[in-house]
Amino acid sequence: MTAAPETAPSAVLLGCPDGLDDLVRGDLRERHGIASERVAPGVVGVDAVPAAEALGPMVERVGLALDPSDPQRALPVLDAAAAAIGMTQPAFRVQSADPDTRSRWIDAIGARGWPNLPADWQLNVDLDTGRVDLGPLHWSRRVARLERLPATTPGPVAAGLLRLAKLRPGDLLLDPCGGVGTVAIVDAVQRGGPAISADSDAESVATARRNVAALGLDDAVEVLEADAAHLPLDDDCVDRVVSDLPFGKRIGSNELNRTLYPAILRDLERVLTADGRCVLLTDDKRVFADAVARARGLKVVGERVIRYNGVTPTAYVVVRSRRRKRR
Ligand SMILES: C[S@@+](CC[C@H](N)C(=O)[O-])C[C@H]1O[C@@H](n2cnc3c(N)ncnc32)[C@H](O)[C@@H]1O
Repeated sequence: MTAAPETAPSAVLLGCPDGLDDLVRGDLRERHGIASERVAPGVVGVDAVPAAEALGPMVERVGLALDPSDPQRALPVLDAAAAAIGMTQPAFRVQSADPDTRSRWIDAIGARGWPNLPADWQLNVDLDTGRVDLGPLHWSRRVARLERLPATTPGPVAAGLLRLAKLRPGDLLLDPCGGVGTVAIVDAVQRGGPAISADSDAESVATARRNVAALGLDDAVEVLEADAAHLPLDDDCVDRVVSDLPFGKRIGSNELNRTLYPAILRDLERVLTADGRCVLLTDDKRVFADAVARARGLKVVGERVIRYNGVTPTAYVVVRSRRRKRR
């Protein structure tokens, strides 16, 4: 397939966390031969709806570009959206900052016999962004539907961190601040584990256990209630660590991180295998940089800024800086 000219308007828009667009585009090209363009931060354009297997777990939503000025002109796009999800009368909802515009569109689409079901839609007509989202291709329906808590990492962000970790078949993955289990679960769905998701908060651990059980992943993911600074794990047993650390905003505090980050890094250095690799996400960047600088056995070999939900954390790729002395 040849690349679309940079100026061609893309008919199909794939939404992903800003900062992962290049990885999404690389996977589409290299694994599926699909050409794409970067339409906007966190929006990748392609000229046809890719098969669900080609979308990958970093893609959150799939939509068709639509002219929000006139419902009659948009009807062919809505028909194409319905065809893309294999439905003739899909349930829809309309989003618009202007209530009159919203009512006009609901009437126009409802006149075709399509049910307006805002809580259970197949097509989301978003007039503010000029897009109609395809419900069955949303991350939560394609990858995993998870019970969440306020600090839960968005699934596509977790997938991006896993992508940076370069997991190999059989690697043991650890998320020491695993919350509701998002990282370990996305890995288990994609790779089959094995993974350990640990968290010190009892509610997070209970939620993670429910998520793992609901998805039938008990054989792939072990959930532990544990302090990330004192993990109940042997030395040199973890191949990959992927974690969204407490930033000190929703969870903990900047002051707490000054002692927590060095303590977590000390224990990660202990449990990590000789060729281990960590991908650690934090918005408390100065505290994290200080902590790594003081952890003499670890070094940062890569950084990537990711933007989502009003935060702009950095994913740090961390490896051993020297061979461990045998104990
Ligand atoms: C940003 S959230 C991670 C969310 C997680 N990735 C998810 O999707 O649910 C940070 C998590 O770190 C946990 N945490 C804070 N201090 C911890 C500690 N000392 N040991 C283990 N977990 C800790 C919090 O309970 C919270 O679930």
